Amino acid sequence: MAAPDLTALPGILESRPPDPGELLPLLTLIQGRWRHLPEDALKAVSDRLGVPLARVYAVASFYKALSFVPKGEKLVQVCCGTACHLKGCQAVAAAVAKSLGVPMGGTREDGKVTLEPVNCVGACALAPVVMLDGTVYGKITPSAASRLPV
Ligand code: FES
Repeated sequence: MAAPDLTALPGILESRPPDPGELLPLLTLIQGRWRHLPEDALKAVSDRLGVPLARVYAVASFYKALSFVPKGEKLVQVCCGTACHLKGCQAVAAAVAKSLGVPMGGTREDGKVTLEPVNCVGACALAPVVMLDGTVYGKITPSAASRLPV
């Protein structure tokens, strides 16, 4: 994998005060820009905020929304929390994985889409639920899930 172009990184770093409390906001901005956390960006965050690199990695590892490997341009999340589980999320997940050509938890080789499980997105009344880039598709059937606008 080629190293990402980090020319936008100084601007992102300088968009926030050099305060250790800015660690998560900066990591979120970097994740949004590069769809993952490049190693060199983590080192730069450590230097900018005066936070030990081990602490930066610890925080980056804790949050599921942050990733060390690039995520796809589109993010599809299949909820399998309790309500969605009872409403058949497994069949929905299988249909989505098959239609997208990517296994659960994986990113398609073309980098276009990542498929992830989630535990609950707070829309249990709409179970089973799939989210596409933050948009909730509720009471979704396996057939409808295989036709998501990805
Ligand atoms: S369990 Fe799926 S939205 Fe709550």
